[in-house]
Amino acid sequence: MKEKFLWGSATAAYQCEGAWDAEGKGPSIWDQFCHSEKNTTGITGDVSCDFYHHYQEDIRMMAKGGQNTYRFSISWSRIVPKADRVINEKGFEFYDKVLTECEKYGIVPNVTLVHYDLPDYVGDQGGWCWPDISDEFAYYAAAVFRHFGDRIPLYVTINEPTHNASCCYMVGNYPPNEQVNMQHFCECAYNMILCNAKAIREFRKLKLNAKIGLVHASCSAESVLDTPAHREAVENGDLFTNDWVLDPAIKGEIPQKLIDKVKASGIDLSFMKEEDRTLIRENTIDFLGQNAYSRLLVKPYVSGETCATVNNAGNNDGSGKAAKEGKTVKGWFESDTDPRVPLNPWGREIYPQCIYNTLIKRKQKYGDIPIYITENGHGAYDVADENGWVEDDDRIQFLHDFLEQILKAKAEGVNVMGYYVWSTMDLYSWINGYKKRYGLVRVDYEKGLKRIPKKSYYWYKQFIEEHQDL
Ligand code: BG6
Repeated sequence: MKEKFLWGSATAAYQCEGAWDAEGKGPSIWDQFCHSEKNTTGITGDVSCDFYHHYQEDIRMMAKGGQNTYRFSISWSRIVPKADRVINEKGFEFYDKVLTECEKYGIVPNVTLVHYDLPDYVGDQGGWCWPDISDEFAYYAAAVFRHFGDRIPLYVTINEPTHNASCCYMVGNYPPNEQVNMQHFCECAYNMILCNAKAIREFRKLKLNAKIGLVHASCSAESVLDTPAHREAVENGDLFTNDWVLDPAIKGEIPQKLIDKVKASGIDLSFMKEEDRTLIRENTIDFLGQNAYSRLLVKPYVSGETCATVNNAGNNDGSGKAAKEGKTVKGWFESDTDPRVPLNPWGREIYPQCIYNTLIKRKQKYGDIPIYITENGHGAYDVADENGWVEDDDRIQFLHDFLEQILKAKAEGVNVMGYYVWSTMDLYSWINGYKKRYGLVRVDYEKGLKRIPKKSYYWYKQFIEEHQDL
């Protein structure tokens, strides 16, 4: 029987739950970072939109909006708060209640095991660079699989390995805030591949009636010009931002070309072990979560040292346009810009065709693997009237244009099985705080965290109604 297309929206634990130290939860690296002086804005996710106490209202709102799936993440340090590995049953209880609420409305949960927020005790050991992190993650993952079992039909191991690794060890805006540490970037990337494989090994042991996948951030690389040098830059861009995670996760192998290139740039790869190859080969994902925000535009490398910036680092006031987002990877590629393409208020391209191009490329490379668009959203300075009503026509246009491209790719045979707007309601935006909003539902942070659906919420409801025959 044909599976029902999933229409929903997404959040992540640190960004929406609040209750950062409630009922036995241990601190995560984000609690630690936001409470430290490294956090120059002083803004935290301590309370955020307090999903921890508002989940019933939020899930009811999803259902009323016609959504039949909800993507959220589990806070690892709610389940395993400390290095002694003792499970916090209260943590499980909270997510049990969330699942019960989803079940009440027939909302399919799509649940991510880690969305950036490693427990702080893992951070103390070296975070993603800790050589034992994959065993620690597998322990936590196995506990989650045993507890929830088939109640969760779609599990995700890690949110956005590439983006996370880049922010932690290239840009340095996410903890542990290291800038252009290529050695650590590679160790982190490799450990993420191992974490994914070891969690999947635990998952398969239980023979659950559920599927497991990984959520990937980047679209495929593109260039403005089509010269041999540009084609090479595109290939390098893909190796650096896409293939290193997608090839092992889907095909079970790390591209040899990538290993050779990394070695040639002087990285010590002694952390790669021969026995890991079998582990990676035998534990691949069932589905791919592809996020959709903007294009990865590259040009040939010409000069300069490796560097990386994002336009949202420490910016909560709209001055983002000044700080250009981009990367130079010495000997590989440089980021490019295209003056013809409009930008969002944070200087990011609005280029809906990138998701069509990406989906077509994914199919060419990985065949019919089921794909869910696990995030697609528009960050904006929403303006509300005195009743809190937001006419977010810019967001509606953005979502509409991306959906058009996604459905075009689906009509051409890409196995797209679901779609999630980022985000369900307004929540904490990493580094940017609360002014950059993505929600379908407004959260009034000044007035008791009141929820008010935006124009886009009603537009999305109607769009879903009109696309029931997918
Ligand atoms: C995605 C993340 O990369 O981008 C989300 O998975 C995040 O957690 C979203 O919120 C938007 O990014 P930002 O930095 O604008 O909030």
